Amino acid sequence: MKVLVTGGAGYIGSVCTRLLVDAGYEVVVIDNLAHGHRSAVTPSARLVIADLGDAAALDRVIMQEKPDAVMHFAGRIEVEESMRQPDLYFYTNVACGINLLNSCLRYRVNRFIFSSTAAVYGVPETVPLTEEMPRNPANPYGASKMIFEQLLEAYSRAGNLRYCTLRYFNVAGAYAGLGEDHRPETHLIPRILRSVLNPGETFRIYGEDYPTPDGTCIRDYIHVYDLARAHLLALQALGERNLVYNLGSERGYSVREVFATAEKVTGREIKYEIAPRRPGDVPVLVASARKIRTELGWQPQLTLEDMLRDAWEWHQKHPRGYPD
Ligand SMILES: NC(=O)c1ccc[n+]([C@@H]2O[C@H](COP(=O)([O-])OP(=O)(O)OC[C@H]3O[C@@H](n4cnc5c(N)ncnc54)[C@H](O)[C@@H]3O)[C@@H](O)[C@H]2O)c1
Repeated sequence: MKVLVTGGAGYIGSVCTRLLVDAGYEVVVIDNLAHGHRSAVTPSARLVIADLGDAAALDRVIMQEKPDAVMHFAGRIEVEESMRQPDLYFYTNVACGINLLNSCLRYRVNRFIFSSTAAVYGVPETVPLTEEMPRNPANPYGASKMIFEQLLEAYSRAGNLRYCTLRYFNVAGAYAGLGEDHRPETHLIPRILRSVLNPGETFRIYGEDYPTPDGTCIRDYIHVYDLARAHLLALQALGERNLVYNLGSERGYSVREVFATAEKVTGREIKYEIAPRRPGDVPVLVASARKIRTELGWQPQLTLEDMLRDAWEWHQKHPRGYPD
């Protein structure tokens, strides 16, 4: 079986590519390398450097490669940037995604797995979040992902497309030499670890006046390996029915708790300063992953400490990130 992976040179796409290849799938990666890294692509996968904005290039790849399924990771991912430049988010996450859907429709690629996000829920009234809760995104990033979810629903109603939407909570950790190297980095765990390795970078806690026990935001963290395993299960399960699942560990950790775990794993006292809240951040996001646990038998195997340990090992080996 052949899988087309968009964004396969990025953090999560590269780990999923690796797991797919190891499980015997043939993988073609499309990435424009704007935020991805050539050396993150597993050598036995074929890398096509192309932009999803180029509909003709996409058509060519899909026509030639005839994939059985698509895993769509490519996109813009920063909440704060989306508040300042929403156009970038609606272009990449929606308009480029439409090109991909249209190519799939033209060349009858009927299985589609989509990287969505907890940000589609917005500011929840209660936690844990279940898949049935209303989507009410609080920022353009979340809105762009919600719109793409709705596009999948419409395309599926109109034809043979079957999709699995996976709403990730906070992804962390490293696997098989593949780690998190976003530029700029806005995610908590790599920011903490990079501040340890680069004494010039002071770690900032954005806001300590949230309505949470220690005043810092609470998030649900999932190891990138556990997340990638869920993609393989979803691919195998995708049949007659469309699927929508949250992917989180069902435990919330505050920024201060993650910070304390980082100090334990690195064995260092880490400097920090308090900065104002970041626009678009919500106080608490914790998943219910009951649906994927009961329907697909998925269970997270790795803990927050595992995520920090694996990420720390990767960052120590790659203090400046990937070479390219
Ligand atoms: N990292 C997280 O914690 C997290 C949480 C929720 C959802 N997600 C979603 O998961 C997906 C992957 O996230 P990531 O952390 O691996 O991001 P990433 O930035 O590391 O990877 C995205 C990849 O997509 C490529 N890309 C972007 N625009 C493209 C375009 N127009 N054409 C071709 N390639 C393009 C980039 O070059 C990059 O390699 C994203 O869709 C993101 O919204 C991530």
